[in-house]
Amino acid sequence: MNKKSIIILAAGAGTRMKSETPKVLHKISGKPMLYYSIKEALKLSDDITVVLYHQFEKVKTEIEKYFKNINFVIQDHKNFPGTGGAVMGITPKYEKVLVLNGDMPLIQASELEKFDISATIVMSVLKLESADGYGRVIIENGNVKKIVEQKDASSEELSITTANAGIYQFCSKFLLENLAKLDNNNAQKEYYITDLVEMAISQGKVLKPLIVNEENFKGVNSKVELADAEVIHQNRIKKEFMKAGVIFRLPDTIYIEEGVEIKGESIIENGVSILGNSKIINSHIKTNSVVENSIVENSDVGPMARIRPESKIISTHIGNFVETKKAILTGVKAGHLSYLGDCVIDEGTNIGCGTITCNYDGVNKHQTIIGKNVFVGSDTQFVAPVTIEDDVIIGAGTTVTGNVKKGDLYLTRAKTKTIDGYFYKHFAKKTNEKK
Ligand code: UD1
Ligand code: CA
Repeated sequence: MNKKSIIILAAGAGTRMKSETPKVLHKISGKPMLYYSIKEALKLSDDITVVLYHQFEKVKTEIEKYFKNINFVIQDHKNFPGTGGAVMGITPKYEKVLVLNGDMPLIQASELEKFDISATIVMSVLKLESADGYGRVIIENGNVKKIVEQKDASSEELSITTANAGIYQFCSKFLLENLAKLDNNNAQKEYYITDLVEMAISQGKVLKPLIVNEENFKGVNSKVELADAEVIHQNRIKKEFMKAGVIFRLPDTIYIEEGVEIKGESIIENGVSILGNSKIINSHIKTNSVVENSIVENSDVGPMARIRPESKIISTHIGNFVETKKAILTGVKAGHLSYLGDCVIDEGTNIGCGTITCNYDGVNKHQTIIGKNVFVGSDTQFVAPVTIEDDVIIGAGTTVTGNVKKGDLYLTRAKTKTIDGYFYKHFAKKTNEKK
């Protein structure tokens, strides 16, 4: 494939999203919509220009977290609003230029490669049951005649179901020569990129329609379409993992973000969310657990456990209602109801039910370090910073406030007190009073 330039249009206000957040920053599988078109564009080109206007600083800052070497330009939106105005003033590096919409997060490089056709304009066309929301493609005698926007269409044109998918390849020379000729003589008073189609035809240029499928070219203009696109994207993510050997129980109930890795013989049960850049290796994540930006290897987690960022769970059993954060656990058992934050816990150690690492003193966070083969009794609090050496027993109900040496038993326990028959005395009196 010949090298080509790519322009991604992302300057629109996105009013139909009804949101303060710029449209292209709305997330699909944890990443902004615009991330996906840039990611695919980078597979094909080293000359990528993203056109911004509304809240451009916010969009640029967010996108620069993921990509370098992208050109950003700001559209002269006041004077030249519209998709045509968006491409004005850009000089593509290569002979051909692909124009993509930033609101098409399901686009794939393999689909964009299909535009590699010799013509002045290659335009993507959808054959739909209803073309509602799209520009209609007017075809006469088998040839594309023009594109008419929904808002400008006559009732006859509105019934057309051949739609403009919104991605084009132009000869750069044609684009540069004709952009200045666009006008805003239409219902929205905007400069439409789609008017270039009619111009090319009147100049006798070669124009080729490329029939594309709706799934990859779906535009996101509303929160409904955002949710629809995310469902498709989620299915893609999960299918890839299933093909690689991962088991998903009731996959429709599972949410896996872009950036997650799952390897080996892993099982992901229903209701699980795996977020950020988590890595799951040969592990079993049980019903309704959440794993965020963490590594889980040769371990089982849940049901209903929460593995918060920067945890590293290796050869470990995490049971229900256990929360971890920045916890490095290797060969540990934490079966029930615990909070393990800012801690390092080593092999053979058993964390009793109700254990809490008290990592926050109201100002700073502190670490709990627990060695090998430690038996932590139920309902223990570690008031960090504390270090527990190997082979230690912590008695149930203990508040650990200092370091514990190898081999010791550590417990805090108030002296027990028994009063013979007190129950009967206490309640008998109360009962008498009431009478
Ligand atoms: C556009 C097409 C329509 C097509 C549809 C496919 C035009 C005039 N219409 O309509 O034929 O069926 O896409 O999805 O092109 N943008 C800018 N600057 C602007 C306006 C928009 O950069 O001044 C960007 C938006 O951020 C968006 C893209 O261009 O990423 C498309 O704009 P949008 O308003 O969504 O166009 P549609 O009405 O969907
Ligand atoms: Ca759109």
